[in-house]
Amino acid sequence: MCGIVGYIGTRDAVEIILSGLHRLEYRGYDSAGIAVVTSNGLDCVKAPGKLSGLEEALRRHPLHANLGIGHTRWATHGAPSETNAHPHLDAPMEIAVVHNGIIENYHELRAQLQADGVEFRSQTDTEVIPHLVRRYYEGNLFAAVRRALSKLEGAYAIGVVCSAEPNLLVAARQGSPLIIGVGQDEMFIASDVPAILKYTRRVAYLENGQVCALHRDGFWVEDIDGVEQRLPIETVDLDETAAEKENFPHFMLKEIYQQPEVIRNTLRGRAREGSHEVRLDDMHLAAGDLLNCSKIVMVSCGTSWHASLAGKYIIESLARVPVEVDLASEFRYRNPILRPDTIVMAVTQSGETADTLEAIRIAKKSGARVVSIVNVVGSSIARESHGVLYTQAGPEIGVASTKAYTSQVTALSLFAIYLANLRETATADTLGGVIEHLRAIPEKLQWCLDHQDTVRKVSGDPRYCHARSFLYLGRSYNLPSALEGALKLKEISYIHAEGYGAGEMKHGPIALVTGAMPVVCIAVRSAVYDKMLSNIQEIRAREGLVLAIATEGDEAIRRYCDDVIYVPECYEPLSPIVVAIPVQLLAYYIAVNRHCDVDQPRNLAKSVTVE
Ligand code: G6P
Repeated sequence: MCGIVGYIGTRDAVEIILSGLHRLEYRGYDSAGIAVVTSNGLDCVKAPGKLSGLEEALRRHPLHANLGIGHTRWATHGAPSETNAHPHLDAPMEIAVVHNGIIENYHELRAQLQADGVEFRSQTDTEVIPHLVRRYYEGNLFAAVRRALSKLEGAYAIGVVCSAEPNLLVAARQGSPLIIGVGQDEMFIASDVPAILKYTRRVAYLENGQVCALHRDGFWVEDIDGVEQRLPIETVDLDETAAEKENFPHFMLKEIYQQPEVIRNTLRGRAREGSHEVRLDDMHLAAGDLLNCSKIVMVSCGTSWHASLAGKYIIESLARVPVEVDLASEFRYRNPILRPDTIVMAVTQSGETADTLEAIRIAKKSGARVVSIVNVVGSSIARESHGVLYTQAGPEIGVASTKAYTSQVTALSLFAIYLANLRETATADTLGGVIEHLRAIPEKLQWCLDHQDTVRKVSGDPRYCHARSFLYLGRSYNLPSALEGALKLKEISYIHAEGYGAGEMKHGPIALVTGAMPVVCIAVRSAVYDKMLSNIQEIRAREGLVLAIATEGDEAIRRYCDDVIYVPECYEPLSPIVVAIPVQLLAYYIAVNRHCDVDQPRNLAKSVTVE
């Protein structure tokens, strides 16, 4: 949460910082600010609300400089307001700091500083940093930042500038991500790579506990004790248009449409036609570890947790290994039972979610092997895991996750086949068949995208788009689809929605059913199809409004439902990938019809890097 950018060079720092902040707005968008240093000193402009507010403020108060830092905020401590927006300054307004993370001991630090006469302007945890840097400043900003950091507990990625040192940008990282961009006579810092991709592809990943001094022509890294550190510079191979909407009205719709291609990319080089084996070269786990594992524990949050649930069904059915799926936020506080033969699997789009990151750290300490399903290459979780399986979904910008989800389920299916081959829990024929089914998925997704008339019609129907509450029911492989459908709807349309196992309906949710409550029933052809039909009839008997997601050709189901959205016939274990498309489109079009801000829903952020 929160995005930071910094620039030192020869060009217009403000333009570069604003362009980076636009790319980082998915990390938070409740206020924003920029501080620059010129020969006349330090100047700072902040505004509440989205970046457009800051741009407006900059039109009234233009800044021109070759050195600066910027921030887009997702409030943790202190309401979203101009005062609480970053950058935060020291008392004489000569040192400015942008921060992503949470300073956990800020109460004590604030009390100590106040006792020494420091007056605070904001309610944020961050403001202790500029005041601490000021306390230690003796003409050397880099040294002062290092000393200040030694007092901080918690997570941070920071950028710091000082009016007395107009040729220096200082950055540091502990827990929250920060990359360094290396240009020709210019250097950048940012929370992620796409923020600076327009200007350079050469990046270095700052490690935890490192502090960096950036000048126009290079950078210098030390650890917090002052020991020099070497950081390799890598050339990243990311498509810059990946962070553009292109011709789509929203990133979310673009990303929904990208899914056939994304799934092809996830499978590319891993699942060959005619083979029953998959290649997972980047996984780096010894066959013995996988062969002898007694249990897999998945840790994840949000949509990635739903993908993990879908993965559990597939892995257990093919590889016959018990799989537990844990919310990372629960796992980390519940003294989990892990043994050296347990494999812990983090599933994460960003690779930076604070709870998931902490969960794998706990797992590693207990001796478990950690293999992660990650989208963002080089992210903290990717780097801290023993093995990684990248989902290859490309940058996901829309706050509501879409293509990351389907690529995660695909990657987990590949992992299940890999494990089943190793453990010989399924025949070569069966596994070859699953690979063929996987390879057919992109076409099925395209079919769903090409046949969206019913989704669009239903989304504009007031019985659906003005409903106060939705229920999503699914069962077996598609219980995760129901949970994910409900999450998508509430995230972007603000309609209350609950996802439930259809078999549980009679244990509570049925009490909610009236004609005013749409019930989305995922009733594709499957081993539980008849059970789903019974549930649908029970809802109809109570005058519920039933919207079914069913298999193309199933005309009979129309008799029991108000509306039916069809998806192509699909091998049941992989059907959650296909069902995801209508479920995402339904949420998307309902949100658009309700004039909601689809890509930046209120209160949410894409990357939850704080607890
Ligand atoms: C946030 C995002 C979700 C995402 C979750 C987990 O809540 O809004 O879309 O599923 O974090 O993020 P991760 O990056 O770990 O998958």
